Amino acid sequence: MRTELSFANFAGIDTELLAVLAVDTQTDKGPDAKPAPALLTSDESVKTSAAAVLASGEFKAGANEMLLLHAPAGLKARRLLLVGLGKQAKATAHGVRNAAGAAVRFVKPRGIRSLAFALPEIESIALPAAARAAAEGAFVGDFDPDTYRSDRKDLSVQSFSVVAPAPADQTAARAAFAEGIVIGESQNFTRTLVNEPGNKLTPTVLGERAAKMASEVGLKAEVYSTEKLHELKMGAFWSVSQGSAEPPALIVLRYEPEGVTDGPVLGLVGKGITFDSGGISLKPGENMEKMKYDMAGGAAMLGAMRAIALLKPKVRVISIVCASENMPDGKAQKPGDVQTAMSGKTIEIINTDAEGRLVLADGLSYAKQLGATHLIDAATLTGACVVALGMINAGVFSNDDATYEKFNTALATSGEKFWRLPLGDEYAEMIKSDIGDIKNTGGRWGGASTAAEFLKVFAEDTPWIHLDIAGMAWVENAQPYIAKGPSGIAVRSILEWVRSF
Ligand code: BES
Ligand code: MN
Ligand code: ZN
Repeated sequence: MRTELSFANFAGIDTELLAVLAVDTQTDKGPDAKPAPALLTSDESVKTSAAAVLASGEFKAGANEMLLLHAPAGLKARRLLLVGLGKQAKATAHGVRNAAGAAVRFVKPRGIRSLAFALPEIESIALPAAARAAAEGAFVGDFDPDTYRSDRKDLSVQSFSVVAPAPADQTAARAAFAEGIVIGESQNFTRTLVNEPGNKLTPTVLGERAAKMASEVGLKAEVYSTEKLHELKMGAFWSVSQGSAEPPALIVLRYEPEGVTDGPVLGLVGKGITFDSGGISLKPGENMEKMKYDMAGGAAMLGAMRAIALLKPKVRVISIVCASENMPDGKAQKPGDVQTAMSGKTIEIINTDAEGRLVLADGLSYAKQLGATHLIDAATLTGACVVALGMINAGVFSNDDATYEKFNTALATSGEKFWRLPLGDEYAEMIKSDIGDIKNTGGRWGGASTAAEFLKVFAEDTPWIHLDIAGMAWVENAQPYIAKGPSGIAVRSILEWVRSF
């Protein structure tokens, strides 16, 4: 998708479609209160051409509501698309991101390949934030998961041009727009990986994709397999891989900005289970096909690393993705087995389906060995987190309030929804083992928290954040601004957290 940001009067814009945003300015909440839609533009030609339809009451400017006008009078654009942002008081850059995505997803099935998107003129949304959000949203909206369909119509939008009246200073808006492109493309890089089926994206292939991306954006990459796991004594990670015909991949990416030789080293650790059958504790057949996306945490780290490499924050970052299948086999680990993790801790395996925490345990230890001073992990870790938060919020846990606060602040920019869930000694108690140091499940209740406590044993005293994205990595119901399929959740938040150092 080609993108550009230009400053011009709207009347003369030569485009297939011009999208313009609107809000509902009605503040009265009474039963008789009628929506009062208002366009977020000072452009007289647009206002004139939309006047009649606005007066009709057909368009209420609800969030992502759309109305299309053909041959709008007084505009060179062939079509005018009104896109609602909802209530004026609640209009944010996140709404602009969704509106841009919705506009792109509106035009695609109609065979319209190029559009212009007018940035909103509204005090509550700064121009740079709007420019960035529009770029992000356009890329997110342009992504479709139908990669392997024979009748795939490549309906990708060819040109998305963002337009606004000329501001006094264009520099900030241009920089933010360029950032938005990098971020949107990086989120889609993650989504492309998550979308791949387990037979196409094995741990080895994930390693190859990571290395290729790294060489394109200038990151250092090392991809190891079985031998290295043994050398590092990664008994927890290997216990998951031992039952699979596919070798594991230990993916290490490094971002080392020039001139930065001290200060924090951030460790980004991702769960990369390319298919989770449950192992000997086999999952039920229903929905098992979904478990191809059990590498979404690892893919999120790779997408974040891509964006980091291109946006160049002044902080060192290491990423470790622990990629493996989890399969039943004669060689597979069994419930009751005891494994020794890289840290030396012993783990009693209660359920081989609690495999994510096993690979992450050694990933966290390795990140620390490589010098990480702060850790963040992302994983489709527990069904319990989905039960707790639904597909509305992802879970976040932390052993350090200051580090968590940085993440929470990052959310304001990323627009992603995470909700902090508790750790605590009582949860730690639930994963004590009779035979070893800890066991890999803590029973039915509080499953997201006991899983997080398990990881905390390996993060130790290093400030650490754990993201449980099980319920958010896959969009079950298509939205106006995003297709059904991989979401790319956490890429934007991890990136902003990194940039906050
Ligand atoms: N990959 C799953 C968690 C998951 C569930 C991801 C739903 C996405 C959607 C994980 O490996 C798993 O199987 N967890 C078990 C843990 C249990 C055995 C303690 C679970 O949540 O049921
Ligand atoms: Mn599992
Ligand atoms: Zn899993």
